[in-house]
Parts: sequence; structure tokens; C-alpha cells
Amino acid sequence: MRKKVILDMDPGIDDAIAILLACRSPELEILGITTVGGNVPLELTTKNALRMLEFVGAENIPVYAGMRGPIFGELRTAEFVHGQDGIGDVNLPEPSKKPAKGHAVDFIRKEVMEKNPSEISIVATGPLSNVAMALLLEPEIARRLSSIVIMGGAYATTPWGYGNESPRAEFNIATDPLAAKIVFNSGAEIYAFGLDVTMRPDAGISKNHYEEIGRAGTKTGDLIHKMLRRFVHLIEPVPMHDPMALAYTIKPEIFKFRRLHVDVEVCGTLTRGETLADLREWLPESFKKPANANICVDLDGKAFIDLLISRVVYGR
Ligand code: BDR
Ligand code: CA
Repeated sequence: MRKKVILDMDPGIDDAIAILLACRSPELEILGITTVGGNVPLELTTKNALRMLEFVGAENIPVYAGMRGPIFGELRTAEFVHGQDGIGDVNLPEPSKKPAKGHAVDFIRKEVMEKNPSEISIVATGPLSNVAMALLLEPEIARRLSSIVIMGGAYATTPWGYGNESPRAEFNIATDPLAAKIVFNSGAEIYAFGLDVTMRPDAGISKNHYEEIGRAGTKTGDLIHKMLRRFVHLIEPVPMHDPMALAYTIKPEIFKFRRLHVDVEVCGTLTRGETLADLREWLPESFKKPANANICVDLDGKAFIDLLISRVVYGR
């Protein structure tokens, strides 16, 4: 049986690659994509989700626009990383389809509460504003969902787990820390992929991979090559944050987790958006707060990159 997933995202170059990976993975049934303002404004993240689906001939998957920005505070977008169009200034045509009618948060509520109880996983690769709003609207969603798979956070479990938006905060969580706090405290089964693992050099696209992608001569290979052309000069290997969270739903066996208690700093002046994982093993059991998340601390980086390239570049 295929796994039912809702992709909640802010495409975004790596979100866009995650869409390609999802569409090329027969293990998954994509119920819909919900979009959120994040890397670029909501109009563009929604357009980019539609563009990617059309690019791979999956335009039958509905796209629902959601929250324009964080529950509290202003949205700060990241065009300097993702380009003016949000996907590396690749000049993809305007999508011919429009977003589906209705709000993303309502789509999530209906799918989980009415249509597919206890079977759905949400894969969230943007700020958690839509997911948190759905949980506020209907807290029972937390128990009905099979899991919430999150790309976000930095948990200090490896030398890479320390923040990109600031020394302590990762972009998705820093964009809407309140939403992240609601999600981590919701009681849902959470699997989180933070910078601890997504920044690991062996789990990124190296210069060699990049050249191979360019040489492959496939339609998706050419698109990804174009999308990453600026990135590869900024940071190499190029991290594949969002595809990694998606890959977990396809090949969970390549990832290792620690069950930890996590909470989110919502108002620190220097640490706003920090995901605080309690790593104090010496703490007496009676003082410990129960674990509320499975934090990815290790993976087979090569297996992940091989899976990604073979599916999205070669379609195998
Ligand atoms: C996350 O932030 C965004 O820029 C990426 O799309 C990814 O979801 C990495 O911190
Ligand atoms: Ca993203």
C-alpha cells in the first residue's frame, strides 16, 4: 500500500527538488501540496508548487495556498538564496493550473479528520504556520496523523546542528517559532531532520555530483543543474535539506534517530527560533520531561544522495 502524504512547503529550490522526488516515488500517494510563505512570498511558493507538478506531468495533484506568513510577526523571505522566482531564477513558464479552492489549513483538517484518519503523514519543509494552525483548529489531528515529518531545527547533536538563520536558529523554525512550538508540543509523532544531518557534507550535492547531473542529459537533470548553478558557488556540497525529510518517507531504514524532548525559543533576543533539545543524559529520570520528538542524528549519506539522484535525475 502506498503511504498517504500531504506536502506542506515553501518552494524554494530544495522544496522544489523534494516535489520532484515525491512525484518520482511510487511508494507515495500525494494527497495534495499545501503552501506557506517562507523562502519567497505565498503567491510565489504556490506558483512554484504548481510549476513543479506541471514539469513532471503531475498536475492532477491539488495545491492549496495557506498562511502568508508567521502566526506572529513579519515574514522575512530569502530571495538572496533562492532567487527572485524562489527556484533559482530558472524562467519556468507560468503554471497553466490555478491553486485549488479553499485554504490549506482547511484542506489538512478535512483530509485528516474526515477522509483518511490515522493514515496520513504530513511532510513539512517550510515554516510550520499551516500545520500549527490546523492543530489549533482541531487538536485531535495530532493523534490522527501517522506522523509529522519536519525539515527544521538545529539540535546540537552533531557539529553541524547549530543554525543557519542565526548562530542558533534554523530558517524554517526562525521564520515561525510560535508555530514550531505549537507543533512540538502537540503530542503528534514527530520525526525532525535538522541541520545536524542536512548540513552533513556527505549528504549534499558535491561538485562531482553537480557535474554528473549536468551531463545526464535528462529534462529534470537539466532543471536541477540550472536551479543549483548559483548555490554551488555559495556552499559546496549543496545541502539537500527538504529532499532528506521526504526521503525518510521512502527509505526510513537509512536514518537513525534519538528520542528527545524539544521545545522552541520564541522570544529570545539572540536565540529566537532555537530548537532546544534536552541532551542532559545525567539528569535524574524523575526530572526529565518526556521525549516529544524523534530527532535524526545520523544517516547513510551516500544511500540518500544515490536515491535522490537516481529518482529525480534518471527517473529510476
Ligand atoms: C530550510 O530553509 C529553506 O531555505 C530551505 O528550503 C529549507 O527548508 C533550510 O534551513
Ligand atoms: Ca523549504
